[in-house]
Amino acid sequence: MTNLKILVLGRGGQVGWELRHRLACMGTVIGMDFPEVDFSKADSLRETVQAVAPAVIVNAAAYTAVDKAESEIELAMAINGTAPGVLAEEAKRLGSVLVHYSTDYVFDGTKQGLYVESDAPHPMNVYGRSKLAGDEAIQRVGGDYLILRTSWVYGARGNNFLLTMLRLAKEKTELRIVDDQIGSPTTSECIAQATADILAQVLAPAGGGFEGRSGIYNLTCAGETSWFGFAKEFLSAQVGSATPKLIPIPTSEFPRPAKRPANSRLSCRRVEETFGVVMPDWKVALALVLETLNEGR
Ligand SMILES: NC(=O)c1ccc[n+]([C@@H]2O[C@H](COP(=O)([O-])OP(=O)(O)OC[C@H]3O[C@@H](n4cnc5c(N)ncnc54)[C@H](OP(=O)(O)O)[C@@H]3O)[C@@H](O)[C@H]2O)c1
Repeated sequence: MTNLKILVLGRGGQVGWELRHRLACMGTVIGMDFPEVDFSKADSLRETVQAVAPAVIVNAAAYTAVDKAESEIELAMAINGTAPGVLAEEAKRLGSVLVHYSTDYVFDGTKQGLYVESDAPHPMNVYGRSKLAGDEAIQRVGGDYLILRTSWVYGARGNNFLLTMLRLAKEKTELRIVDDQIGSPTTSECIAQATADILAQVLAPAGGGFEGRSGIYNLTCAGETSWFGFAKEFLSAQVGSATPKLIPIPTSEFPRPAKRPANSRLSCRRVEETFGVVMPDWKVALALVLETLNEGR
């Protein structure tokens, strides 16, 4: 398995960054990002993949500006909806494996209980619609692929809720945080580690390959909380008595261009049963990120 050529797209993003390290022991990792590769230009993306000819493509690149997507519909659709289909076509042509990431935002959040992979998607915003288009494009092409559907991604680097709140906590005396959207905060580290574990299984000589295991798998940390509950947990740990006053608010008091689902909870039973991947509780994963931040790594 050591001579595998692994193409990681979106290498500078939250998940892409972690992937480069987690996949390094599996082969030669070639990381690429915008503008070296531009997902809004399907032909040049296709040429790039053909030139690299990897055995594994892991796509962590995406248009992730959820609110901005409402006014950049075409761009979001090109990057999130069209480009994944191009990757799937090239992966199939090369006989390669494609790993791609999807989102809880393909759902409208009205389900009572956890979403499973077979639940009908119904996105509430442009970002969700564009990501769903990408999932569907990959499924139409087929081949050996994994679509790992995750939620509320954060880590010690990148653009995310945790780092934004830690910054705001130093500037404000009071923070009003949405308390009626429920989900599972999931670290980029956990996503990358699970990706590596799954790939190690399907690519190992005795691993059995895909054997009908191509498909969508929910992949989030375990447990659930609201954005308010999440912030309370890390602010009390990180800022202590200097924590600003935290005020739980309903979504209606924090209007944004893009609507968000109230329920983002995903059942990870399928990834556990198929690949034996058990994700840690979100509080355990959070503690590791805080440790990394505190060590200044
Ligand atoms: N963040 C979340 O809360 C969340 C939740 C559920 C699912 N996901 C999914 O998880 C995956 C990884 O997300 P993430 O949070 O790691 O994303 P991220 O940190 O925003 O990184 C996305 C990467 O894609 C690159 N990119 C943007 N436009 C591009 C283009 N036109 N061509 C090539 N690359 C481009 C970005 O480059 P620049 O920095 O130069 O723009 C960046 O390196 C994505 O599929 C995302 O949809 C994320």
